[in-house]
Amino acid sequence: MLYIMTERLVLKPHTQNSLVWLNTTFNNPNEDYFNGDDPPRERPETLEETQKLLDRILNRPVDADIIDYAIHKRDTDELIGVGMIAHINHYNRRCDLGIGLGWNRDNWGKGYASEALQAVIAYCFTELGLNRIGAEIYEFNAHSIRLFERTGFRREGVLRQYIFKDGVFKDSYLYSLVKETWEHQKKS
Ligand SMILES: CC(C)(COP(=O)(O)OP(=O)(O)OC[C@H]1O[C@@H](n2cnc3c(N)ncnc32)[C@H](O)[C@@H]1OP(=O)(O)O)[C@@H](O)C(=O)NCCC(=O)NCCS
Repeated sequence: MLYIMTERLVLKPHTQNSLVWLNTTFNNPNEDYFNGDDPPRERPETLEETQKLLDRILNRPVDADIIDYAIHKRDTDELIGVGMIAHINHYNRRCDLGIGLGWNRDNWGKGYASEALQAVIAYCFTELGLNRIGAEIYEFNAHSIRLFERTGFRREGVLRQYIFKDGVFKDSYLYSLVKETWEHQKKS
């Protein structure tokens, strides 16, 4: 079970209490990322639909190749974001990360995502014993590009014209951080 305490945050498993926050976030038109490369929504996602996703998260087997977590403020326990360690492959010792702050923009631009991401990276390399962490970021997601580059990820590839957004084909960038680079960065 993932439970990480940082200076200002607690990263911990979701509970049923995440439902309304998730639904509000998924239905926020600014949160493009959460809609991925699906067609634009024709109507808001219902609570029942979000509940199905939450049920999948809450009922994942312990040996699943994905770990979902909720990001809470330590002082108030407010839920401010979500993340996942996905595609965990223990033989090749790699995974992919996703992370997002939610609908409440008051929590953006305060370094919460950087703080959470740094902690999750350390967890992947030390607790899970992984060697490589990947991330895929759409070319227009400037906040996320800054977040991952600031945290030490390097761009290693481009999926050209990978997603169709607002009537235009857009690229998606592949990023990674490997353990030896992370260890080197920690020392310098
Ligand atoms: C990606 C995302 C999590 C980044 O959020 P963010 O608020 O920009 O990231 P952080 O929490 O690390 O905050 C960093 C910003 O806070 C500022 N900041 C303020 N106080 C800070 C502190 N104590 N520590 C670090 N940064 C601080 C930084 O200068 C930085 O500002 P800048 O981006 O203008 O340079 C957010 O945009 C998001 O949730 N997007 C939707 C989901 C998404 O796209 N996820 C990524 C998919 S790959």
